[in-house]
Amino acid sequence: YNDKVLAEIVVNEKIADRVYRMVFREKQIAEEARAGQFINVYCKAESRILPRPISICEVDRENGLVTIVYMIVGMGTKEFSELKTGDKVEVLGPLGNGFTLRDCEDNVIVGGGVGAPPLLEVVKRLPGKKRVFLGFRSGAFLVDEFRKYAEVYVATDDGSVGDKGTVVDLMRKVGVKSGNIYSCGPKPMLAAVQDMAEELGINAQISLEERMGCGIGACVGCICKIKADNEVGYTYKKVCKDGPIFDAKEVMF
Ligand code: FES
Repeated sequence: YNDKVLAEIVVNEKIADRVYRMVFREKQIAEEARAGQFINVYCKAESRILPRPISICEVDRENGLVTIVYMIVGMGTKEFSELKTGDKVEVLGPLGNGFTLRDCEDNVIVGGGVGAPPLLEVVKRLPGKKRVFLGFRSGAFLVDEFRKYAEVYVATDDGSVGDKGTVVDLMRKVGVKSGNIYSCGPKPMLAAVQDMAEELGINAQISLEERMGCGIGACVGCICKIKADNEVGYTYKKVCKDGPIFDAKEVMF
């Protein structure tokens, strides 16, 4: 890995309830990052030693800028939300394996909640036709950014934006029958995407990033069960080191 670096914050703004978008200047991460990778962001408070892993939403290689979108879920992310333009933040990355972008004419991108941001870079980089399905509990964010590159369909649990219901129901309604799926979001959504891909016999990659803790292999909070050719039929892997992207076929929920 690269070393931790201090990056200068260019933008840090609220884009939805408890959701923030931060842009910082870090040339090397911007150059190296693949879609679906994440970075570790470090707190200044000494009581919070473990970094917070946050996926990379998009990069601007030309200007050396990296965008992350994060939700306030505790004191660490609360601290990040209070940083201002010009402040410095300590980051490490890019980390994790990233999506394998396949040459395909029919790309289906499925994101749920704060699982949506890393898919923006996927959509930007994929060639061919792209359909994006986004699901949220209530309200939505980044929809306009996705619309710049693809057809976008939105579902919310409470019907406040787009269709009322789950994003996978919306995929069935719109008619996803083929293609390659790229997905990131909460576990029930990923499990439904896995079922759908199996039913249709199509390829799906899923990001288990929501299940990460420290992002550096120290907390073991990210262990997941992966199918294997051994006596028990599975093995354990670390989402932060071996993922966060896995083939949907190999994940056992
Ligand atoms: Fe802590 Fe993987 S996130 S060990």
